[in-house]
Parts: sequence; C-alpha cells; structure tokens
Amino acid sequence: MDIDFTGKVALVTGAANGIGRATALAFAKSGAKVVVVDRDRAGGEATAGIIRQQGGEAMFVAADVTKSADVQAYVKAALDAYGSIDCFFNNAGIEGKLTHTAEYDEAMFDQVIAVNVKGVFLGLRHVLPEMLRQKSGAVVNTASVAGLVATPGMPAYVASKHAVIGLTKTAAGEVARDGVRVNAVCPGPVDTRMIHSLEQQINPADPASVARRYQAAMPTGRYTTPDEIANMVLFLCSDLASNVTGGQFVVDGGRTATGGSVNQAVED
Ligand SMILES: NC(=O)c1ccc[n+]([C@@H]2O[C@H](COP(=O)([O-])OP(=O)(O)OC[C@H]3O[C@@H](n4cnc5c(N)ncnc54)[C@H](O)[C@@H]3O)[C@@H](O)[C@H]2O)c1
Repeated sequence: MDIDFTGKVALVTGAANGIGRATALAFAKSGAKVVVVDRDRAGGEATAGIIRQQGGEAMFVAADVTKSADVQAYVKAALDAYGSIDCFFNNAGIEGKLTHTAEYDEAMFDQVIAVNVKGVFLGLRHVLPEMLRQKSGAVVNTASVAGLVATPGMPAYVASKHAVIGLTKTAAGEVARDGVRVNAVCPGPVDTRMIHSLEQQINPADPASVARRYQAAMPTGRYTTPDEIANMVLFLCSDLASNVTGGQFVVDGGRTATGGSVNQAVED
C-alpha cells in the first residue's frame, strides 16, 4: 500500500515555514489538495505558490490560530474551496523565551499557552465536527519531546506540549468509533527557525557552538529535518495507520530514549 492522498484535502497550520511548510509540500507531492494556514501572509502565500509551481493544488488562508473566528474561517474556506478536510496537521506553535520558572514572564506564559494549547484546541473544536460528519479523517497535533520530558528553561513550552498530548488522547477516544483518528507527533530538535532561535537565546555571541553541542547530544549526531517530520505525519494520516490513534510518535534521532531532554545537555 502506497501513501497516496489523491482526491484528499489536507489542512496544515503553521504552514508558512519550517515543519508545516515541509509537510504541506509533502502532502501536495502525494496528491492532496492543500489548505495552507498561517498568520505569516508572505510565507503562507509562498508555500501555496511553491505547491502550485510544482503542479499541485493549494490555497492560502491567513489566520491567527488563537482566534476562534479565524479558525472557523479557515475551516469554512477549506470546505468552500475543496469540500472536505481529510487530513488536519494542527501544527502552529511558538517557543517563547528561555527563562527558568522562577523568573518566567507571565505575559509570555499566556502567549505560549494561547498559541500552543488554545490554538490546538480550537483547531480540534472546529475541524472535528466536519470529520465526524464525513465519518472519516485523520488529525496529527504537533507536540514535542518537550511534551514527554522536561526541558529546563522552557516552562510554558513544556506545559503546552504536555497539554497537546492530553488533548490528543482525549479527542482520540471521543471520535474513534466515528472513523476519525487523532495522534501527536513529538519532534526533537528540528532544523527550523525555532531551534535557531533557541540556540541564539542560549548563547547570543556564539549560537553555532550551541548547535554543535545540541547535535553532539543526539545518538544520530544531527538535527531532524522538517521532511523527516513530514514523513511521520503523512504516515499517520494515511491508511497505513488505519488502526493507530491516541498515540505519541517521537522523531528525535534517539535522544529521548537515551537520556532525556536536549536542553539539559546544553545547560549542564
Ligand atoms: N523546530 C523544532 O525543533 C521543534 C521541535 C519540537 C516541536 N516543534 C513544533 O513544531 C511546530 C512547528 O514549528 P517549526 O519548528 O516549524 O517553527 P517555525 O517557527 O518555523 O514555524 C511555526 C509556524 O507557526 C506559525 N504560527 C505561530 N503562531 C501562530 C498563530 N498564532 N497563528 C497562526 N500561525 C502561527 C508561524 O508563523 C510559523 O509559520 C511547532 O508547534 C513547534 O512547537 C518544533
């Protein structure tokens, strides 16, 4: 059985950059029509443009995932244009600032929770009813290895990603008998803007040294690529995963299995 999404519609949030863009492109290459959602208009238009240039079908919808009206609007835009939402990659997220809990800024905490938890909840809240109507669909929420183990200096992010796993397990059980599956992908450090922002926060004078230490702490010796996360997401959305739901799928080069959070290695 191949992974073929011909005739299917994939909606990807956070698709203007990084993991979301790579996954949007991968869905399109596998035949899906893609709804690209992001608050970054230039990046979102660019992702949809690349898909069209490569012969695929895509539309961009600007949305802030923390706003219920925007989320309802991206669902409506997808249905108006393409008629269904078969795969939903609920992926937009932010890292926040790297600060220990005892000093963490309250407004920053609220911001991280708003995007990473409320944004994921609102996506589920407004996409699941459509999938339940269709009696089919697959959702992948982006958690993180920070949803499984602690990462010192990232209290809001770690709390938010643990919450994503809680939302995933809860929703999965609620919709399983209706032909809808909900899983979480848990990336370790991936080579995107986000990881480079953390390197910069840890050592503004020499972020490259942080990158070297991060990668040396991985059994595979390197960051995961966005395409490697996309591969897991496509698998989870495909019929190859037809009885897989409520799970957390780690893609981290073996780091969590062999000794905890990457940040710990950097802070030590
Ligand atoms: N890069 C990593 O090392 C890593 C590791 C584990 C998990 N993740 C998770 O992967 C997901 C994607 O991150 P990435 O690495 O591609 O980072 P990224 O910063 O390159 O991409 C995140 C995207 O989300 C969008 N976004 C942020 N807030 C938004 C909002 N309120 N509304 C709409 N769009 C919004 C951004 O504009 C951006 O396009 C995030 O949930 C992140 O927490 C990343």
